Amino acid sequence: MRSAGRDPYVIATRSLSGDAEHGGLLFRINCAGCHGIAGQGLVGPSLNGLESRLNDPQIIQQVVSGQTPPMPRFEIEPQDMADLLAHLKTFTTPE
Ligand code: HEC
Repeated sequence: MRSAGRDPYVIATRSLSGDAEHGGLLFRINCAGCHGIAGQGLVGPSLNGLESRLNDPQIIQQVVSGQTPPMPRFEIEPQDMADLLAHLKTFTTPE
């Protein structure tokens, strides 16, 4: 299996700087229904402290692969993925 870190989409996404504010907009539209407006968890798990569990390639794969239903597969441009990633990193561990 190909390493996620070498996937061209992952590489493209990581080469861009993310805009967490725009990522927040994308999150509220696409993700908040399942993960909660503040990533606190709802139908889907809490995303707080996500960075301590998953690295960037793993987070990107989770969003675009559709390997864990019922979470759908998102087809988004690398720039939007970079923005989303920047927003996800604002969900820090509540401690
Ligand atoms: C239909 C509901 C649904 C939607 C919409 C959804 N998710 Fe999920 N998400 C889930 C579920 C359920 C899981 C747990 C999957 C599993 O591991 O079995 C999950 C897991 C995750 C994980 C892994 C969490 C961890 O700790 O391993 C991340 C990251 C994530 N989602 C991000 C997102 C983002 C970003 C979006 C929007 C682009 C999104 N999700 C949209 C339901 C959803």
